[in-house]
Amino acid sequence: MSTNDAKNRLIPAADIRDAHVPGMSAYNELVAQADANHDAYWSRLAREFLSWRTPFTKGLDESQAPFFKWFEDGTLNVSYNCLDRHVENGLGDKTAIIFEADDGQVTRINYRELLARTCRMANALKARGVKKGDRVVLYMSMSIEGVVVMQACARIGATHSVVFGGFSAQSLRDRIQDAGAVMVVTADEQVRGGKPLPLKAVVDDAIAMGGCESVANVLVYRRSGGAIHWHAARDRWLHEEMQDQPETCEPEWVGAEHPLFVLYTSGSTGKPKGVQHSSGGYLLHAALTTQWTFDLKPNDVFWCTADIGWVTGHTYITYGPLALGATEVVFEGVPTFPDAGRFWKMIQDHKVSIFYTAPTAIRSLIKAAESNESVHPRRYDLSSLRILGSVGEPINPAAWEWYHEHIGGGRCPIVDTFWQTETGGHMITPLPGATPLVPGSCTLPFPGIAAAIVDEMGGDVPNGQGGILVVKKPWPSMIRTIWGDPERFKSSYFPPELKGYYLAGDGAIRDAQTGYFTITGRIDDVLNVSGHRMGTMEIESALVSCTALVAEAAVVGRPDETTGEAICAFVVLKGPRPRGDEAKKIATELRNWVAKEIGPIAKPKDIRFGDNLPKTRSGKIMRRLLRAVAKGEAITQDISTLENPAVLEQLAQSN
Ligand code: PRX
Repeated sequence: MSTNDAKNRLIPAADIRDAHVPGMSAYNELVAQADANHDAYWSRLAREFLSWRTPFTKGLDESQAPFFKWFEDGTLNVSYNCLDRHVENGLGDKTAIIFEADDGQVTRINYRELLARTCRMANALKARGVKKGDRVVLYMSMSIEGVVVMQACARIGATHSVVFGGFSAQSLRDRIQDAGAVMVVTADEQVRGGKPLPLKAVVDDAIAMGGCESVANVLVYRRSGGAIHWHAARDRWLHEEMQDQPETCEPEWVGAEHPLFVLYTSGSTGKPKGVQHSSGGYLLHAALTTQWTFDLKPNDVFWCTADIGWVTGHTYITYGPLALGATEVVFEGVPTFPDAGRFWKMIQDHKVSIFYTAPTAIRSLIKAAESNESVHPRRYDLSSLRILGSVGEPINPAAWEWYHEHIGGGRCPIVDTFWQTETGGHMITPLPGATPLVPGSCTLPFPGIAAAIVDEMGGDVPNGQGGILVVKKPWPSMIRTIWGDPERFKSSYFPPELKGYYLAGDGAIRDAQTGYFTITGRIDDVLNVSGHRMGTMEIESALVSCTALVAEAAVVGRPDETTGEAICAFVVLKGPRPRGDEAKKIATELRNWVAKEIGPIAKPKDIRFGDNLPKTRSGKIMRRLLRAVAKGEAITQDISTLENPAVLEQLAQSN
């Protein structure tokens, strides 16, 4: 099937028994309810899905827009909602987490044990002086302990900030400092693909850089037993801290707006922003979307392959499934170890029924399966699957079709979920028992989400015509502010010309017939590489901070078959433009430099050297030309304003 045929294919919604949202009429009814009374709609769901200590009396408070508040006078505890209430309802013996380690070892933990462990952890945090409102940074391996620490923070009202284990010491330090964390929780090492990788050593380096004086304690989870340095005044073993702690801990009842977590993400300019989320509104959407988007039922085995260092891991590992009392798989390793059949084997072994992963993973596993029959999904029993999900980047129709046919056996609907760190949970997505699917389209807004496409002045754009993706009304799980920078929050997400709409930062188009949304990509200088979000400016600053070598740098994205987008850097060195082996050597040096500054995920794939960068006469770098050069396109654009046209030729050749 050609890409175009696939794109035009409308696949009827799955016929699911007792679906949570059964059919388009049920979907339309929910949308109508939300349209009729947005506040009443969300308030009803907040009462149904969450257990409140003190009921709220008001849904949305817009009085300080765009600093919206939801359910503000209600109190609750997130970990109570994720753990205690299930144990109280007789689900104590139900498996909460099936953890599979990198080496294949499996550990199960039921709700009663998870609650007990969370309480001991919470007591251990308190014993070290961590209290409500304090920030705790996690730099952890994928583990049951990672989830436990997040839940324990929620239990005592501490705000967690998880930093993905692939970020560098420098990035970690910046986040610890910005959050003013009182504690860092880490592991000695993480084990991925059979190899131990340092975590504690990176924390040591981060703290040694200075500026982390707020950190009183570093808690270390012993994962690998690898050698680490020990700073007696500050470092504590997590198991020792927990061992004598009681298995009960009264939850700290917090207001619905209490910050549950801050998660750093890249913006188009400057340093990463600390996206601050609430407790009540966030948890509502986490639970609601986990139930409706995945049609999650009590007997499902849910597996989201994300890392807890990203928002997907927060919402669809730590919070959503647990808030519903589900059984979920948590995986420490990588999809290609010991071979590229790992995901399929795990689905088979654990009888996974709902599987949620990223297009990059699918694309790389397609390649592997096509070149090696022994890891082809047909070699595994995937009959337990009933729903598939995709997240983080656009899924191209060819990958969609393969996922549908080879993993879903042609019978499992794929929910292509569009959302962002800032949105807390799904925004535009099919609901599997309701929405007919179109490969490559995230289809329709989740009921209650007022997604729309507008022009630069906030005016509606007709279907069939592209524009800017916005959300016209506040929703419960939206970002509350940027940690410590409310002005940046306002200017990034609520620019004055957009009439108070939330600006997502993506372009989109709605199909003229179906009204279905397709995301066309970021409209700012944010790249999406393997579903990881990266600011071009961040990478540029990292490059130019290599002051010994680099005079100037510009970074753009170009399409890449596997990773979606690839990072392409154009660099002017202080010395002469290198060629041949010399160019290769310096490119490697610069890649390693970026890995050290930000993390390996930010390493540019292409580095091209020039004597200069293409600039306008006023000195502005012409990025649109660089994008064309990066793609290997002929320059057809107007270059009459270009100061130095010859440089384009040079950059096009230097690869
Ligand atoms: O560009 C969109 C893309 O990922 C961005 C959000 O990245 P992040 O905050 O890291 O969150 C990723 C996990 C939710 C969006 O602005 N994106 C995310 N999901 C999709 C997507 N693009 C197309 N289709 C999607 N399903």
